[in-house]
Amino acid sequence: MKVSNKVAFLTGGTGGLGAEAARALIREGAKVIITDVNEEAGTALARQIGATFYKHDVTDLNQWQELVARAISEHGRIDILVQFAGIEGDITKDVFHTEPSMWNKVIAINLTGTFYGCRTVVPHMMERGTGSVINISSIVSFMTTAGPAAYGASKAGVQHLTTSVAVAASKGGNRVRVNSVHPGVIKTRMTDNIIAQMAQNLGVDEAAAEAQLMSGCPFQKRGMPVDVANLVLFLASDDSEYVTGSAFQVDGGWHLKDTGA
Ligand SMILES: NC(=O)c1ccc[n+]([C@@H]2O[C@H](COP(=O)([O-])OP(=O)(O)OC[C@H]3O[C@@H](n4cnc5c(N)ncnc54)[C@H](O)[C@@H]3O)[C@@H](O)[C@H]2O)c1
Repeated sequence: MKVSNKVAFLTGGTGGLGAEAARALIREGAKVIITDVNEEAGTALARQIGATFYKHDVTDLNQWQELVARAISEHGRIDILVQFAGIEGDITKDVFHTEPSMWNKVIAINLTGTFYGCRTVVPHMMERGTGSVINISSIVSFMTTAGPAAYGASKAGVQHLTTSVAVAASKGGNRVRVNSVHPGVIKTRMTDNIIAQMAQNLGVDEAAAEAQLMSGCPFQKRGMPVDVANLVLFLASDDSEYVTGSAFQVDGGWHLKDTGA
């Protein structure tokens, strides 16, 4: 077992990627707390997989403080923090048509929420001298997106925040590790929605829209949540104990740009 008896706190834990990672961590011996704004789905999933569920809006710092204190009092500590909570925003609008309210919402959930998680949990890990934080960014932080600019900016922010926290967390030789994971296009509700929107804009069916979206990816197909869960498991486990401040792409090679030569 890769994460025996470790305590993991996962935000956005009822989503496509979060639920799969929660299952993988439990299978490998961790005690898992999943948190999400979606209480109904969270309660049902927790019952099904043997996790604990807390209702949690990651944009609320007070909730972070209460829930982290509750996790430590109920489970003794937090060894692993995985921050999946995120939204895609309005993907039909380019940068010039993005409403400021939508910009603020995407930044609040994807970036400020991740900052609050680091701010609340990392000091606890530093006191213990050990821990692993896994921030879920996106492959868009290595690419350009003229479309959902708020999403791209939020995820690039998560990548940089991760490096800042990694350096601060290692003060005094602490082995508190902080890394970011950058999925490409993985089959979940989020990318089903993106493909449905693309199909509508292009006037084609969803299979054609998906084929067009994935044509720039060497593997040509969407990844599956388990592909991300396997990477999260590696970063959560002691197998990655000398790894910090790094950005891991899990994208079927999508970030590679072939010169065509
Ligand atoms: N699926 C992909 O291809 C892909 C690619 C790159 C990055 N990501 C990132 O991975 C993460 C998970 O994506 P997913 O595909 O599982 O999406 P998802 O929509 O299935 O899951 C996101 C979860 O976040 C929760 N959430 C939304 N707002 C919240 C808030 N304010 N507080 C707490 N929870 C909140 C949702 O309820 C949902 O359960 C996101 O951050 C996403 O940006 C996904």
